[in-house]
Amino acid sequence: MWLWLFAPFLIRNVIAANFDPTEFFKTRCEPKCVFEASNLNSTTIDKFPKNCATVCTDLAIDDKCDLTEEQLTATLQNMKHLVGSLIVISVKYTSVKFLAGLESVECGELDFLIVLNNKMLEVGMTSLNTINCSSIAIDNNKEMTKLNMPNLKYMYPSEVNKTEIKVRIDGLSKKFCVTTQEMYNLMGVPNINLDSLEGMHCEPPVPLTNGKVCNSSYTLIYPTEILDECTQYFGSLVINPANEKDVSKLKSVEAIFGPLFIEKTNLTSIDFLTNLKFISTLGYDTAAVQVINNPFLSNFSFPSLKKIKTNSHNGVNDGVIFINNSYTLSEDPSFCNFFWAFLGVDGWLYPEFDGKSCESIQVRYDQQPVKRSARSMGLEMMMIFVLSIFRWFGWAGAAPKNIEKYTKIYTDKGFHVACICPPLFHYKVPNGSSGDKMLPFIEKFEKSKGSAPVDPVIIHSFSMNGIRGIISLAKTTGNPKLMDNLEGIIFDRFACVSVCPDFLFCFSGPTRTFTHQNGKALMLSRPKVGYLSDEKRAKIHEKVNDARDFVISPISSIPSIRSKFSTYWYIHDKVQLPKRQLYFYSNGDSMVPIPPLEEFMETQKTRGCHVDSYNFGKSEHVGLCSKIGGP
Ligand SMILES: *[C@@H]1O[C@H](CO)[C@@H](O)[C@H](O)[C@H]1NC(C)=O
Ligand SMILES: *[C@@H]1O[C@H](CO)[C@@H](O)[C@H](O)[C@H]1NC(C)=O
Ligand SMILES: *[C@@H]1O[C@H](CO)[C@@H](O)[C@H](O)[C@H]1NC(C)=O
Ligand SMILES: *[C@@H]1O[C@H](CO)[C@@H](O)[C@H](O)[C@H]1NC(C)=O
Ligand SMILES: *[C@@H]1O[C@H](CO)[C@@H](O)[C@H](O)[C@H]1NC(C)=O
Ligand SMILES: *[C@@H]1O[C@H](CO)[C@@H](O)[C@H](O)[C@H]1NC(C)=O
Ligand SMILES: *[C@@H]1O[C@H](CO)[C@@H](O)[C@H](O)[C@H]1NC(C)=O
Ligand SMILES: *[C@@H]1O[C@H](CO)[C@@H](O)[C@H](O)[C@H]1NC(C)=O
Repeated sequence: MWLWLFAPFLIRNVIAANFDPTEFFKTRCEPKCVFEASNLNSTTIDKFPKNCATVCTDLAIDDKCDLTEEQLTATLQNMKHLVGSLIVISVKYTSVKFLAGLESVECGELDFLIVLNNKMLEVGMTSLNTINCSSIAIDNNKEMTKLNMPNLKYMYPSEVNKTEIKVRIDGLSKKFCVTTQEMYNLMGVPNINLDSLEGMHCEPPVPLTNGKVCNSSYTLIYPTEILDECTQYFGSLVINPANEKDVSKLKSVEAIFGPLFIEKTNLTSIDFLTNLKFISTLGYDTAAVQVINNPFLSNFSFPSLKKIKTNSHNGVNDGVIFINNSYTLSEDPSFCNFFWAFLGVDGWLYPEFDGKSCESIQVRYDQQPVKRSARSMGLEMMMIFVLSIFRWFGWAGAAPKNIEKYTKIYTDKGFHVACICPPLFHYKVPNGSSGDKMLPFIEKFEKSKGSAPVDPVIIHSFSMNGIRGIISLAKTTGNPKLMDNLEGIIFDRFACVSVCPDFLFCFSGPTRTFTHQNGKALMLSRPKVGYLSDEKRAKIHEKVNDARDFVISPISSIPSIRSKFSTYWYIHDKVQLPKRQLYFYSNGDSMVPIPPLEEFMETQKTRGCHVDSYNFGKSEHVGLCSKIGGP
């Protein structure tokens, strides 16, 4: 009756084949070694070919079997190879030790099943080393605490044209465990599907004849003591600042029976686990591989890795998680895809890099076909300039013609360039009016997402109005993720292309400005008036700024509202800038306070952005440029 429950297992090959059992047995057994009855009981026992080492039969031992374990042992002890199938179902025995001498099973039409045996504590087929069956089930034996199948290491599919071997080991005792030896063997089987294996690892681990097991803790809190010549770790392998200097000793490790956790190190690459083949986290509720907050980590290689078995039943992502490492890892899909291959494609178990799935990393990557080669320049690429309008020394109100010099640098290289020049400088945090003018470009970019490949966009922001333009854009779209799709941003305090053609840009950034600076900016961006000198006008604007700063300086310490009053805090708190950022600045710049700028860059880094910067040292604000003449 139970067999009906397993009908899907039992009849599967019927679909595939014009399978002829008689023929199958004939090619593998002498006629006297074929046991036709299948069901072993007191009626059929005499017909069993006791003296054959290879027996052909679909051997079934079920609740109707009226033999003792001793009788079964005596009958089956010479059988080393079983050809056909094995079904042990609903029996009263505490193990299958009566098959302890069996070395191999080769399935024909049916499968290997040990199921629904309520009294069974272990399998105990200690000699079994090969199962050639596409489907193996040891499940719903609710008292079973161990397999005791230490030699099972070879498995091949029996189904024609199939490669996968599906192993189902679940519905057993809560205390059920797989020894490290059994697990090592199972994980070494090519094309094995262990998704339905549940349980823990048995402690203590089985000692090795050619290798060394090293103990470590169950938790992820303590750095693992890295010893020489460990080939297996029993427990978590935790690498953090306390032990990162010893990682080269991990070359010998082949298997980790616990999670791999790498945190807060200065490592640039995970290239020391060259012999690691298996990771199994049975019984753990953390991800099998977690690599977090290693800012310099930009590469890894696991050249020997064969299998990752996670504790896959608790519904959370317990596969592979990379967070806050070098941006490269979550930008290049090959890193994510590498792990995907090990975790399978079964829906929810997927690697995550900075919260992104491999698919979304891939999509982003594919949408930017130009980007990869763009690093070598000379390619089509759209750029938006958010332009500064004024310059401190002698020149205000830049029009597109003043900017031509800069756009030419890009157009000469084959980039498309859009310039936006906001008309006025203002002491308030800007509204969305300049952003409205940029939006068509951004929208074009957004629209082509998902369909045709798009040209990546870089914003080149000049001076304070550049910052204001970015804020305005952020306001007008109201889309905090918008910048996430941009290729990058260049914060350029003051353009001086002519001086440093290799760098292109000299000074930078979002920083808090001085009131006299703002005052002058306000003056310069407005028309002259007959009744007031420029100095007077600048002074008045400065006073307005002073008064304003006096009022808002206490407010600036209140994070929830500071962005309403200061462009610096607006861009800091409200704008999610592109992932790649480049800053140019100089310590010697008396116009631009450096600490807030450096704080800003640090914050961007902790937000997972890739920040490059260049400090020109003693150089004064636009010092280099004004010598040569500037724009
Ligand atoms: C043994 O199994 C055969 C085949 O299922 C059955 O016909 C026979 O009645 C069984 N004998 C006993 C004693 O249960
Ligand atoms: C199992 O299959 C493999 C690969 O087809 C074969 O080499 C091996 O002899 C088979 N073993 C048994 C016991 O059938
Ligand atoms: C197995 O694959 C071969 C070649 O592709 C094909 O001819 C054959 O029919 C397949 N057998 C089954 C049972 O699907
Ligand atoms: C590992 O720990 C277990 C107990 O948890 C102990 O029995 C075993 O001897 C330890 N092995 C080593 C190599 O320290
Ligand atoms: C990592 O780098 C930082 C900064 O360079 C340094 O202070 C720290 O000691 C380094 N940590 C280790 C474990 O080398
Ligand atoms: C990453 O590491 C692998 C293996 O060490 C190496 O082949 C590859 O070139 C590295 N990639 C980069 C971008 O450095
Ligand atoms: C936006 O701000 C500018 C000055 O910064 C002002 O001229 C314009 O009227 C404002 N637009 C709206 C819609 O408030
Ligand atoms: C990643 O970095 C951000 C910013 O510092 C931090 O808030 C977050 O907690 C980090 N994530 C993890 C998992 O540590």
